[in-house]
Amino acid sequence: MTLRVIRNAPTARNGNNGYVGFDIVRKKEIGVKSILLVSAVVLPLIAQEGRPFNQIMKEVGGSVGEVKKAFEGQGNKDAVASGAEKLGRLFKEVEVFFDKRGGAADAVEFAKISQSAAKELLGEATSGTKPGALAALAKVSGSCQGCHDAHREKLPEGGYTIK
Ligand code: HEC
Repeated sequence: MTLRVIRNAPTARNGNNGYVGFDIVRKKEIGVKSILLVSAVVLPLIAQEGRPFNQIMKEVGGSVGEVKKAFEGQGNKDAVASGAEKLGRLFKEVEVFFDKRGGAADAVEFAKISQSAAKELLGEATSGTKPGALAALAKVSGSCQGCHDAHREKLPEGGYTIK
């Protein structure tokens, strides 16, 4: 009786514990690998197709708000810089969107103007002055209206659509 208990208990020699543990780790590893694999295949496809346009605009709105906030009090240059960088990327996405959609060369142009304003803001935040950055921020904010006037339509049920 005593002997049996000792025999069935996992020991370093029969390695039971070790193998069970190893098995679990392997399964987890395979799980993570398949998730990474699926993301690597699927995400570029989504990027190619383009995400919903209003999602980009919501992020643009959010980033402008964050940048404005970053000027408050002492000011946070790094936050201004990262917001400006993000805005540059978002407006590139906007440019590509209207370019692919076709028939709105002015919107492509507006998106380019917004990108250069964002670039100027990034430059001022990394190696410029606060007044310079504020002026660049005004350009970024000023770049929205032309495109909205021409291509944003308010829906009667609320929200917006592209025209
Ligand atoms: C190149 C054109 C263009 C530029 C530049 C642009 N927008 Fe837009 N924006 C649109 C269009 C078109 C819509 C309406 C489509 C939609 O919301 O689905 C829109 C919608 C929005 C919305 C509403 C999103 C929603 O559906 O809830 C916000 C917020 C917004 N823009 C913010 C901004 C800000 C802030 C800027 C400037 C910093 C800006 N946009 C610059 C074209 C533009």
